[in-house]
Amino acid sequence: MESVKNFCDEMNISYSTCCDTNLINWHLQNSSEENSNIQIDIINATVKHPLCVKYPPPLKYRKKFIKTLIYKIEETKLEVIEELYEIYLKLINESDDDVSYKTYYSKKYDVGIKLEESNNLISNATTGLTTWEASFYLTDWCLANKNIFYKKKVLELGCGIGFTGIALSLCCKPSLYCFTDAHETVLEQVDRNIDINIRENCKNFELPSVEVIKLDWTDDTWEMKDYDVLLAADIVYDPQIIPYLVRTLDKLLNNIPIAYIAEF
Ligand SMILES: C[S@@+](CC[C@H](N)C(=O)[O-])C[C@H]1O[C@@H](n2cnc3c(N)ncnc32)[C@H](O)[C@@H]1O
Repeated sequence: MESVKNFCDEMNISYSTCCDTNLINWHLQNSSEENSNIQIDIINATVKHPLCVKYPPPLKYRKKFIKTLIYKIEETKLEVIEELYEIYLKLINESDDDVSYKTYYSKKYDVGIKLEESNNLISNATTGLTTWEASFYLTDWCLANKNIFYKKKVLELGCGIGFTGIALSLCCKPSLYCFTDAHETVLEQVDRNIDINIRENCKNFELPSVEVIKLDWTDDTWEMKDYDVLLAADIVYDPQIIPYLVRTLDKLLNNIPIAYIAEF
C-alpha cells in the first residue's frame, strides 16, 4: 500500500514538474492485471489529479507525457486501457494554452513552488511572465544562506512572477518580502502565484508577510521605505533601461546596506 502511495507521489511530482519523460521510471509490470491498475494509478496521480486539473502543466507537456506512457505500455506488449487513448485524443483536440502551471520542487530544501507561467519567453511586451535562469541560481544561493534573510525586510527589483520571493518567504522566514516590478500584468501574475503558494497554502500563524508594489525604474517619484536586503535576478539585459536601473539602485542603496544581484 505504502509503495503504491510512494509511486503515485513520484508520478505526481514528475508530471507537475514537467520532468523529461525519458527520465521517468514508469514501473510498468508484466502481468496484465497489475498493468491496468498501474495505468489507472498513473492517470489518477497526474492528468486526473485534482491539483493537476486545477493547475495543468503546458498542453505540449501533457501530450508528451500521455504519448510516452502509451508507447511504454505498448513496448511491454500489454494492452493499453481505453481511457488512456481517450485522454490522448482529448488532448490533441485541445487548443494551445497561453499560460500553464509548473511546479519547481527541491528535495534538498523540501519545498515545491507552483507557478502560473506564460508559455512564451516574451508575452504582453514583457520578459517577466516566465522564470529566468538567474532566478534559480539566486534562489539556490539564498536558501543555502538563510541566516542573511531571517527576520529581515527584503526588497526585490524586477521580481517577475515571483519564484525567488516565494521560495525565500517560505524557507528563510524574512519579516517582510516586498515584490516589485513595473509591469501591471507581471504584478497581477505574481499576486496569483503568491495566492497559490502562500495565502492559500500556509496556516495563519506561519503566513509570511509579503507585499506586491509597482516600482518602475524609469519613474523617480516613489517613496523610499526601510529595507535590510535588496535582491534581483536577470534585470541587466536592456541597454536602454540601464541608466534608470543605476539611478534606482543608487537611491535604494543609500538606505539598504546589502544587495545581491544575479545575472546568468
Ligand atoms: C528577465 S525578467 C526577470 C524576472 C525575474 N527576476 C526572473 O529572474 O525570473 C526582467 C524583469 O524586469 C522587469 N522590468 C523591466 N523593466 C523594468 C522597469 N523599468 N522597472 C521595473 N521592472 C522592470 C520586467 O517586468 C521583468 O519582470
